[in-house]
Amino acid sequence: MLNPPPHATETRLLQGDKAGIARAAALLRGGHLVAIPTETVYGLAGDAGNDRAVAAIFAAKDRPRFNPLIVHLASLAQAERLARLNRPARVLAERFWPGPLTLVLPLRADAGLSPLVTAGLGTVALRLPAHPLARALLKRAGIALAAPSANRSGRISPTRPEHVLAGLGGRIAAVLDGGACAVGLESTIIDATGAQPRLLRAGGLTTETIESALGAPLASPDTPAGNTPSAPGQLESHYAPRGRVRLMARQRRPGEVWIGFGPDCPGSDGLNLSPGADLTEAAANLFHILHRADARAGEDGTIAIAPIPDTGLGRAINDRLCRAAAPR
Ligand code: TXA
Ligand code: MG
Repeated sequence: MLNPPPHATETRLLQGDKAGIARAAALLRGGHLVAIPTETVYGLAGDAGNDRAVAAIFAAKDRPRFNPLIVHLASLAQAERLARLNRPARVLAERFWPGPLTLVLPLRADAGLSPLVTAGLGTVALRLPAHPLARALLKRAGIALAAPSANRSGRISPTRPEHVLAGLGGRIAAVLDGGACAVGLESTIIDATGAQPRLLRAGGLTTETIESALGAPLASPDTPAGNTPSAPGQLESHYAPRGRVRLMARQRRPGEVWIGFGPDCPGSDGLNLSPGADLTEAAANLFHILHRADARAGEDGTIAIAPIPDTGLGRAINDRLCRAAAPR
């Protein structure tokens, strides 16, 4: 462990009502950390203008390196105060915010964000979440919230409050309960600093949808950090269950925990991302089913996962699965 363990605290589960939102807003304004529901995954939120709060996010996650974080906002006007939006950036923001899209933009000098949020870069990643509780909280708190996914570094992302509590319970002040996340995959990240926006991370908004709004293709990612169908061996391990992961599995081998897709049934106890082969449903189920498979397989087991079509949301699903299978 590279960071000292944060002081043990009691993590409160706050109801997603007016009182819960008010309490979460007060905690965040006071520099504490609160896990919040968004339509993609739960985020571990802290005041983006407060160095200590942002440092505490890295410590709570056991994040070994200071990766830049996504800043969550209530309005486009707030985004314009922090960053500069060129024409394509504005088209994307107006069309897809609030929603599962993050834009990397040139940071304004007077933005007032902690330099830890941007890892000292001249750019910042911004997003307006669509989840009604996240929107109400951002309005009520009146501050920009830095929020990576609310899981321990490298592990499976949380799409339910119980996932957050299992990973971060005792390390953060509270979790705001918004039930299960509707999209289930992290936001799509687009570098919109230049004339041709570029895909940095496939996610909950498909590249097809983005390209049709732009009326032009996205520039392709030039590093394995993007959505290139790289072999798992080239990818950094992330979204990882404790045991092994076997991809593109056509049959269950003895002792494996099976995750299917479509009307396949190699055993009645198999888990299935979407029996009807619907990619939107599969995305919404992905992390919850990975959490369940992880609980069944344990440290020594293997999780075998059926092939997923590599189109639309399937590309973001396959990106996560390749990282889950990457060597640690
Ligand atoms: O759906 C989501 O995006 C969730 C919810 C909570 O909003 N958040 C999330 O954050 O996935 P996180 O920290 O797990 O992912 C942040 C990603 C990292 O891969 C980081 O490299 C990239 O955003 N990023 C942040 N700032 C950047 C910047 N200035 N330039 C390039 N990439 C950046
Ligand atoms: Mg994450």
